[in-house]
Amino acid sequence: MVTRIQTVAFQGINTVPIDVQVQVANGLPAFNIVGLADKAVAESKERVRAALNASGLSLPPKRIVVNLAPADLPKEGSHYDLPIALGLMAAIGAISPDMANGYLVLGELALDGRISPVAGVLPTAIAAKAMEFGLICPHAAGPEAAWASAELDIVAPDSLLALTNHLNGTQMCARPQPKRQEMGADLPDMADIKGQEGAKRALEVAAAGGHNFLMVGPPGAGKSMLAARLPSILPPLNPRELLDVSMVQSVAGQLAGGKLSDRRPFRAPHHSASMAALVGGGIKVKPGEVSLAHNGVLFLDELPEFSPQVLDGLRQPLESGETVIARANHRVTYPSQFQLIAAMNPCKCGMAGTPGHTCRRGDRCATDYQARLSGPFLDRIDIRVDVPAVSALDMIDHGKAEPSAAIAERVAQARQAQEARYAGSGLYTNAKASADLIEKVVELKDSSKKLLVDAAEKFNLSARAYHRVLKVARTLADLENQANVERHHVAEALGYRLNFSLG
Ligand SMILES: Nc1ncnc2c1ncn2[C@@H]1O[C@H](COP(=O)(O)OP(=O)(O)OP(=O)(O)O)[C@@H](O)[C@H]1O
Ligand SMILES: [Mg+2]
Repeated sequence: MVTRIQTVAFQGINTVPIDVQVQVANGLPAFNIVGLADKAVAESKERVRAALNASGLSLPPKRIVVNLAPADLPKEGSHYDLPIALGLMAAIGAISPDMANGYLVLGELALDGRISPVAGVLPTAIAAKAMEFGLICPHAAGPEAAWASAELDIVAPDSLLALTNHLNGTQMCARPQPKRQEMGADLPDMADIKGQEGAKRALEVAAAGGHNFLMVGPPGAGKSMLAARLPSILPPLNPRELLDVSMVQSVAGQLAGGKLSDRRPFRAPHHSASMAALVGGGIKVKPGEVSLAHNGVLFLDELPEFSPQVLDGLRQPLESGETVIARANHRVTYPSQFQLIAAMNPCKCGMAGTPGHTCRRGDRCATDYQARLSGPFLDRIDIRVDVPAVSALDMIDHGKAEPSAAIAERVAQARQAQEARYAGSGLYTNAKASADLIEKVVELKDSSKKLLVDAAEKFNLSARAYHRVLKVARTLADLENQANVERHHVAEALGYRLNFSLG
């Protein structure tokens, strides 16, 4: 007889249904798993055997074959332990064969029969809801699954024994409840930054419209400090974004305790990051930093220190909002709509452009350093500001600066205006609007149009740059709560692109 249990394989954040078929037949004792299983799945038989033993069940000395269908799809990960164990239990009569029907099952087994957490429970729960199935998952991931739907039938036992008792109706497991990660008010505050009014304003605009942002300045000017304070002025994730962000975190195995958080992701990888770490991939395809920053911020400090290939690898996700990782045998897509925030020194010694300073290597100090950034990469950055060093006088004489809470309020109001404008289209910020859409929503008066066209001609703006200026101008008007984009908005937006020491 063949018993069947349903589980899933992951392709990006999507799930593919997998049928786990278990056959216990007469013949020489053997235990084989077939169906393109990777090492973790192949090792599953040892864990399953030990866990069943620990739960008081021993495998019969027969020929056991487990087939993971469809057989031509590669299977990765340890979450097949539990469906295989359940299939075996049904085959040897420890539970009735139809008990686990109508459930998607995933979980890893420990040798003592406990069920350990696995990645990808949230997407599986959402798939189960769509298929009108229930879900059997590890206890620790129960709260994560509960976010999928209030009606979903979720069984989240902590051990194989607890699961058997639940299925046999002797002792029921309680349905898990969704949990939220409590975030303390531990974010650094904008009030700590003295001076730098221009950079602060630009950061506020970037936060309001989700624009890509680059700061250039000498060491110690406060660039890293400014970037670290961006999370304190960003609005929390809306419910739709929260689910999208958590799906990626779930697949990456980064949802601690199954708790979801509505704080926007802020990822700051070190500049030694490889292409696979930043963009995603590796032998086992995993989401990279760009996908973990989905709906949030990717902060690249010391930008030219990143490898030029890695930076150019960001060009495609920056444009399309998703990362496609192609392998010889499969292709995976991860969402990656992130806001890029970057900081750099103008040259290797860090001081080029500072009045009274001459680099020892002359002009080459700056040109060589800046040449590490390609033109097309820089073209994707909407707001670029110079951050000069603050003078000692500014540091001493400065009164209390505006706190993050006040700035966050203005940002939130501008974001609301954008959400209302793009309602129903799945867009929330001006930065993500398509070129057509932004041309439609920004109606310029003749004088503003002339200013933009003149600047575009004089400075050779690309078509992309033209649209990006329009987007920033729209955000500036949103920050002032104005329905129309005026000339001074266009002028300020152009300033962010042109009044800049690089390129
Ligand atoms: N505008 C400022 N207001 C208050 N403190 C500042 C300011 N700028 C710099 N500092 C002080 O200098 C320290 C270094 O600043 P930060 O690390 O942000 O510099 P940076 O511009 O990132 O430099 P680098 O180019 O070397 O990375 C901060 O921790 C802070 O103590
Ligand atoms: Mg720094």
